[in-house]
Amino acid sequence: MTPTDQQHEQWWRDAVVYQVYPRSFADADGDGMGDLPGITRRLEHLRDLGVDALWLSPFYTSPQKDAGYDVADYTDVDPRFGSLADADALITRSHELGLKVIVDIVPNHSSDQHVLFQRALAAGPGSPERELYVFRDGRGEDGELPPNNWTSIFHGPAWTRVTEPDGTPGQWYLHIFDTSQPDWNWDHEDVHALFRDVLRFWLDRGADGFRVDVAHGMVKPEGLPDAETNAEGLIDIPEGELPPYFDNDGVLEIYREWRPILDAYEGERMMVLEAWIPEHRVPRYIGPAEAHQSFNFGFLQARWGVETLRKAIEEPLALADAVGAPTTWVLSNHDVIRHASRYGFDADYRFGEGLRRDEVPDAQQGLRRARAASLLMLALPGSAYLYQGEELGLPEVREIPDALREDPSHHRAGVPGRDGCRVPIPWEQHAPAYGFSPSGASWLPQPEEFGPLSVDAQDGVPGSTLEMYRAGLRLRREFELGRSAAPVEFPGDAPAGVLAVRRGELTVLVTTGAEDVTLPADSAYEGAEALLSSVAGTAAVAPGAPATVLPAQSTLWLRSA
Ligand code: GLC
Repeated sequence: MTPTDQQHEQWWRDAVVYQVYPRSFADADGDGMGDLPGITRRLEHLRDLGVDALWLSPFYTSPQKDAGYDVADYTDVDPRFGSLADADALITRSHELGLKVIVDIVPNHSSDQHVLFQRALAAGPGSPERELYVFRDGRGEDGELPPNNWTSIFHGPAWTRVTEPDGTPGQWYLHIFDTSQPDWNWDHEDVHALFRDVLRFWLDRGADGFRVDVAHGMVKPEGLPDAETNAEGLIDIPEGELPPYFDNDGVLEIYREWRPILDAYEGERMMVLEAWIPEHRVPRYIGPAEAHQSFNFGFLQARWGVETLRKAIEEPLALADAVGAPTTWVLSNHDVIRHASRYGFDADYRFGEGLRRDEVPDAQQGLRRARAASLLMLALPGSAYLYQGEELGLPEVREIPDALREDPSHHRAGVPGRDGCRVPIPWEQHAPAYGFSPSGASWLPQPEEFGPLSVDAQDGVPGSTLEMYRAGLRLRREFELGRSAAPVEFPGDAPAGVLAVRRGELTVLVTTGAEDVTLPADSAYEGAEALLSSVAGTAAVAPGAPATVLPAQSTLWLRSA
């Protein structure tokens, strides 16, 4: 093994991973829904951007009640997205281009159309088939009340009552998400065996890793105790705590079971966990016998400001050091309001469940801060996860007719839901559906503001968001910023309102206030070379110029004199 090979052996430690949301990336067959052949044709975009890997959200057989996170067959491709041969072609082409491929695994629940759930329904109470899911008798005289008071993450009760094969009202099954997503019973060995096979299936096909959905779910507490309630009888989960169905110790055993399976394959196959848990609980999931890494959502949730951003960097780094694994960074994904819109709010900052039509972010401020936050993120050690379209500066889309919304939360509770960050992305400014689909069809309408944000409209345009990301990724590689060799330091001499982060010879300055900041002539940065700024066209930050004025709400990368 050459030294370079060795260095990159644990590729996931500093990888930049691009999340592809298959239904909204590229549509090859023109039905308005993205597909695997569409992704394969557009892979050069990822190579040119300079990322190391792609993570594919689910493309498995699914009735699409939760955009594919309701899986009916974990080892086949939904015909909407193509075939297994298309998946193979995508993986092969990615590898040819030097890109690793991470696939999504959804182990907390299946679709209610999974053959094993259908069998469980048909087999009736007390059958071994029902043991694979979480069926219980109801409370109350006729079992008419749910087995406990748990509520679903998508609003409403976490239990649904079934009609038994003989036509009578019967047992209840647990679904911590939508009714169409029954939870597996992870106390059953057959469920373990099923998922071991699923992992091997995709590892055999060349997957380099897994993104584990609801990675803190799966194992439920013994006896399924009620969640605590307040004086009004409403479930009351104190700030920083979780519902009883999350973060139970047994979950760790699943990762300890999976890790040797991954380790038995060549080439550092990895898993990254989606665990929305308090930050201090994350390290126990990570280690040589557990998962490789977990999304760090603290950075995504941090409000704009010197202290908040600094804390959102320092804390995960300290926690990561404690377990000897690098942290991850993420600003957007398919579940949260895109950061170009999220940063357009101040007081009523929100990150989930979409935007209502009357919630209008300041688009200019949003994009400006988003670009600054992205450049801050790309300078940090560990791996970074990008969500398709953020490299174009896409905003959250507010104007989606309710009838077209697909998020189950919208149907269950009337909240706007997450569709606004899932609108198909624009490739060509002057093509039908902005190049997303040859027929011009698109499962969600794309707003006009997407036109000028198309890939071809930004390609080669100095200062465009796309070129900023490309430059940031190039310099990140050049300076090995993803590696933790150069520690993260916060020099104490930064002017007020400026977050300064030092990585060896590189200093990153983030101006958080509304005013430009002039660096004093004798500042530590005098004569430093400006490498990259999130604000284009400012003379003082032209590449190579000495830096004196920092534009408001921007990030500047400086090389020490
Ligand atoms: C995860 C996914 C989300 C999905 C949920 C249920 O949070 O990211 O999109 O709705 O799990 O599977």
